[in-house]
Amino acid sequence: MNRSDAQIRHQQLRERIEHHDYLYYVLDRPEISDADYDLLMRELLALEAAFPDLVTADSPSQRVGAKPLDKFAPAPHAVPMLSLENALGENEWREFDARARRFLATEDELDYVCEMKLDGVAVELVYRQGLLETGSTRGDGLTGENITENLKTLPTVPLRLRAPHPQLLEVRGEVYMDLSDFRAFNREREEEGEATFANPRNAAAGSLRQLDPRVTARRPLKIFCYGVGRIEGVDEEPANHFTLLEKLGGWGLRVNLQQTRVLRGAAAVWEHYAQLLERRETIPYEIDGLVAKVNSRALQDELGAKSRSPRWAVALKFPPRQAQTRVEDILPQVGRTGAITPVAQLEPVQVSGVTVSRASLHNWDEIARLDVRIGDQVVVERAGDVIPDVVRVLTEQRSGDERPLPPPRSCPVCGSEARQLPGEVVYRCLNPACPAKLKETIRHFASRGAMDIEGLGERTIDQLLRLGLIRDLADLYALSKEDLLRCERMGEKSAANLLAALAASRRRPLARFLYALGLRHVGEHGAKLLARRFGSLEALSEATQEELLAIHEIGPQVAESVTAFFRDSGNRRLLERLREGGVRPESETGPRDATLSGKTFVFTGTLTRMTRQQAEAMVEQRGGRASGSVSRKTSYLVAGDDAGSKLDKARELGVAVLGEDDFLRMMEDQ
Ligand code: IVH
Repeated sequence: MNRSDAQIRHQQLRERIEHHDYLYYVLDRPEISDADYDLLMRELLALEAAFPDLVTADSPSQRVGAKPLDKFAPAPHAVPMLSLENALGENEWREFDARARRFLATEDELDYVCEMKLDGVAVELVYRQGLLETGSTRGDGLTGENITENLKTLPTVPLRLRAPHPQLLEVRGEVYMDLSDFRAFNREREEEGEATFANPRNAAAGSLRQLDPRVTARRPLKIFCYGVGRIEGVDEEPANHFTLLEKLGGWGLRVNLQQTRVLRGAAAVWEHYAQLLERRETIPYEIDGLVAKVNSRALQDELGAKSRSPRWAVALKFPPRQAQTRVEDILPQVGRTGAITPVAQLEPVQVSGVTVSRASLHNWDEIARLDVRIGDQVVVERAGDVIPDVVRVLTEQRSGDERPLPPPRSCPVCGSEARQLPGEVVYRCLNPACPAKLKETIRHFASRGAMDIEGLGERTIDQLLRLGLIRDLADLYALSKEDLLRCERMGEKSAANLLAALAASRRRPLARFLYALGLRHVGEHGAKLLARRFGSLEALSEATQEELLAIHEIGPQVAESVTAFFRDSGNRRLLERLREGGVRPESETGPRDATLSGKTFVFTGTLTRMTRQQAEAMVEQRGGRASGSVSRKTSYLVAGDDAGSKLDKARELGVAVLGEDDFLRMMEDQ
């Protein structure tokens, strides 16, 4: 290809990738499969390798292009980034509304835009002539830190705005982590022996403050935009805040319109707040309240600001999800990689409707930091994680009988030596044959995101190990019905079900199998990247470090871990035995078959066992189509929790409605 052809093709690829990024990340409505997207990206990278001068600052390849920094440069904000006043309770909210109306000298009810108050990190993005120029943290409101290269790695941050866009746009938003991503991320860190984050906000903040953008790139961060600083050269200045949000969406920025309401008067806002508080647990990210903003931008200007916060917006905060209880014991638990995690056993206590009886203390550094002892009164908080955190010890309530728990010298399960390896915060059991490790390895292998072997739960695994029926993963596939019947409480029917589940797991997609094997540093996302690039276990086992590093988003740690795994003769033997046991992971290139061809699915509400993207991918893999809106042509509406108007419409049109479980069953049958 000559240079001018390459240039034309490069431009086409760049625009197509941008377009699909927008559909996937911003609208949550992808139109092509991951595999097809990957082909576009690979072609772009290959072109740029052949013609390096084609690389532009806004090329999708440049999301992770920059070198690590020594420190962040200061980034002044042209318009100060204010913070919000809090209203605690209905009275304070009514006072806010009354004050605003007095200031405006009006008797009329005000229109408020009600947005979710995301619990993340505030940032500003500056676009000049549509190109992302600077991204920064809020800092003290006047000057933040320049974290442009890190923000560029977020797929939800457009590198270029969609036209027609303003000449200058300073947009503000919150960077956050979805709860499911946060949990998976913490789980991986725990297994790797790295310190875990107490809540998604800390995880987002820590991820944005990385000097090496490649680290940020691997963190599952997202942004929602909710406001602006300067806007210049816009075709039509939006008259109110809601239309501004719509405009931001049109320019390709991610806005949370679905969860935003325009309501008239203080009473309506308060009612909405109460409903939101009820729904809090069903929202896929952490929110700590509602932000009410006067909708009219003219009235906003009239109201102006006090020194730190505007007079036209207020945060209606949720009560904290904290409670006080007693630490009855601290038990060390051993994970898949031998990491020993201290878990506080608590006197059961209610925290916003959920009974809490355990809290993770993460590691012994954290125990020392909190100075938590057995018998202490503590404050626990549910902050994003399924397992709550201990936030504070009430030392003033100590009786003197409290006992500290020293770091382990030996593994609580097998008794072998345990210690902290250089550079790690966790203590690890050093015995490669520790039964706890094997148990956790099997549990991980069988788990839902991995081989998904239903019926192979903790109790059954314990018994199979105790009876000596399994010594490694491959033994699972040699189990007979007679073997299983030796387990307590295992009847004919459950044994048959488990055997069927094991049989079904033999043909899981390669990505799941790779994830199930539990290679260090290879999480669900990494496993998908590897499966997509290599297509088969054989090809992956021969991959060189260079080939691995050439994959977008695969870093040196993962590359090293993968090659080390396949070098190890024990692992090679294990893979061979799994193969002999009939395990044949399927490669994932293109639609698997077309059993759902001609069928259109629409998803609505919150899915609890998968993300919407995963659900849509399942449909597409089977040749079906996923669409965003319900019509007569829709074959099925899949309704998760909190389904709204789409469900009503489907009923009206007589479209078949499936629950999440029905849907999963249907996918398994196809
Ligand atoms: S508006 C002048 N909207 O809350 C208006 N802030 O306590 C300033 N936040 O620093 C912010 N969600 O980090 C606004 N929908 C939302 C928000 C939001 C979260 C955060 C933001 C801000 C803090 C103020």
